[in-house]
Amino acid sequence: MKTQLETILAKVQNPLTHKSVTDDKLLIAVHDAASGDDPSANKCVIEMRAAGDKKWQLAIEAQVRTQASKAGLAPDGFKFKWSDAKPEVTKQGPVQRPQRSIPGVKHVIAVASGKGGVGKSTVSVNLASTLQQLGKKVGLMDADIYGPSIGKMLGLSGRQQIEVKDDRITPMEKYGLKLMSFSFLVDETQPIVWRGPMLGKAVEQFLYDMNWGELDFLIIDLPPGTGDTQLSLAQLVQTDGAVIVTTPQSVALLDAGRAVAMFEQVNIPILGVVENMSEFICSHCGKPSHIFSKGGGARLAASTDSILLGQVPLVEDCMAAAERGEIPVYKNKNKNIQPVVNAFEHIARNLISKVEAT
Ligand SMILES: Nc1ncnc2c1ncn2[C@@H]1O[C@H](COP(=O)(O)OP(=O)(O)O)[C@@H](O)[C@H]1O
Ligand SMILES: [Mg+2]
Repeated sequence: MKTQLETILAKVQNPLTHKSVTDDKLLIAVHDAASGDDPSANKCVIEMRAAGDKKWQLAIEAQVRTQASKAGLAPDGFKFKWSDAKPEVTKQGPVQRPQRSIPGVKHVIAVASGKGGVGKSTVSVNLASTLQQLGKKVGLMDADIYGPSIGKMLGLSGRQQIEVKDDRITPMEKYGLKLMSFSFLVDETQPIVWRGPMLGKAVEQFLYDMNWGELDFLIIDLPPGTGDTQLSLAQLVQTDGAVIVTTPQSVALLDAGRAVAMFEQVNIPILGVVENMSEFICSHCGKPSHIFSKGGGARLAASTDSILLGQVPLVEDCMAAAERGEIPVYKNKNKNIQPVVNAFEHIARNLISKVEAT
């Protein structure tokens, strides 16, 4: 059974990279299950590295189970064990990094997270704005096809009048940033299901059919998780790397760790970690409290050999500004928001030195 499974696994594809799971070093081992008294227990355990989300794991399991049943193996004869161990990916990893770059654009930075709601769009917007206020030319692309929110956060809700000149799309401009989002093109009430198939093409158009002009930084707000947009991006453009956003508690770190492993799989370097909602600053007394625990961002940075770019506190007025379509860190005199302004300045300076050093 063990050898048969190994033969099958050598042919099973990693849906992210289209290479075999053994070539991608996702297979840790096939070993005999500890024999208990229960005769119906599984006899083999296939131990794999969990470099993608649940959907991705199920896709691999389905391939193995189909092949195993064709080979006449009993379906209850083996089981899967997904471990969070990091894949051993070297610089010459499974996906060759594309050489293609966007004319005029110096640095492409992806902002990513393991799950939604951790503040990925907040980090994208405020980081972009801080870089702009530090004198950089900045574009912001909302690649979150399922939950585009950059438009609303910048007061450009719903469909926008998009200008096309010589077959190239002119980005919207606001707060000194060049902007593109799926929400500028689609009705907010349109169902989301049809968006999947156009995803790869849309990402490509947002990168190459746009008139971005000269940019120091193009910040890309990715959808949460470990899915198709990340892969399209990895195959389409030479990025400087990804900034991973997490909140401090360990459950969030688990998701962020998966996102990190996925980027390693597709050969996008991790530039650093931003810990969002690192502490709650009370707008009445100004005192901080660690409502989501402490230290997770630093732990994630250490476990991924990257750096903690900075920590952003949770401030009510920051959320309220975003609701009004304002960028919290843009020319804001509100003293409650000052810790957020300082945090993003720290993050932006760290990011600049990181990308300009490499
Ligand atoms: N540091 C923060 N302080 C206050 N509110 C925040 C902060 N970070 C995010 N939020 C709020 O939390 C919600 C989710 O953030 P968002 O950036 O949309 O998350 P994601 O893009 O990861 O889904 C938004 O309403 C946002 O304004
Ligand atoms: Mg978002």
